[in-house]
Amino acid sequence: MKKKIFENPTRLIYHNPVSLITSNHNGQKNVFTVSWLCAVSKHPQLVMISVDKNRASFPLIKESGKYVINIPNTKMLKDVIYCGNVSASEKDKFKERDLKFSVSKNDGIVLDDAIAYVECKVVNEFDIGDHILFVGEIINAGADEKVYSNGKWNLKNESAKTLHFLGENGKYITIDEIN
Ligand SMILES: Cc1cc2nc3c(=O)[nH]c(=O)nc-3n(C[C@H](O)[C@H](O)[C@H](O)COP(=O)(O)O)c2cc1C
Repeated sequence: MKKKIFENPTRLIYHNPVSLITSNHNGQKNVFTVSWLCAVSKHPQLVMISVDKNRASFPLIKESGKYVINIPNTKMLKDVIYCGNVSASEKDKFKERDLKFSVSKNDGIVLDDAIAYVECKVVNEFDIGDHILFVGEIINAGADEKVYSNGKWNLKNESAKTLHFLGENGKYITIDEIN
C-alpha cells in the first residue's frame, strides 16, 4: 500500500488504535501488538508505547533505540490477534502470517497492509515496574491518502476502521464518526 508523508503525524494515534509495533536490530526483526500507546507532546512530536520487559521485542527496541507504530484496520484483525498472542521466541510471525513489509531509510520495518505508520527514535525511557515506557520522537510517518490526509481521518472510508481493544480477551471495537 502506497503511503504518503503528512503533517500532524501524532493525529494518527490520537484515538489510540491497537497497533503493530515493529523493531529491527542486528538482522533480527519482530512485530507485536500493543494497545498501550499515545501521543504525549506536540513540540517536539513525541509518542509513547508501554512494553513489558519480557517481550521478545523489548531488547530489540532497547538496543536499536527505534520502533515503528504500524496502524492496522479491521482487515488485519487476525494478524493483530496472532502477533499479540505469539512471541518471536516461538515463531517467525512475519512468515507465519505472510506479513509483507518494506524497510525505511532508518531501518524501520513498515508493514505493507497497515493503513499508516509512525516511525520513532527513542529519546527517553521510564522503568515503571513490569513495563518500560519508550518515549519516541517521530522521525518519519505516512498514511494511505484515502483514510488520512491534511491531518484528518476520513472515517467514511471503510479502510479507515481501526481497532480498539476493550481489555477482555478477543474483544475489539472499531470507530465511527460522531460529528
Ligand atoms: C490487543 C492486545 C494488546 C496488547 N498490548 C500490549 C502492550 O501495550 N504492551 C505489551 O508489552 N504487550 C501488549 N500485548 C501483548 C503482546 O503483544 C504479546 O505478549 C506478544 O506475543 C509479544 O510478542 P514478542 O514476545 O514477540 O515481542 C498486547 C496483546 C494484545 C492481543
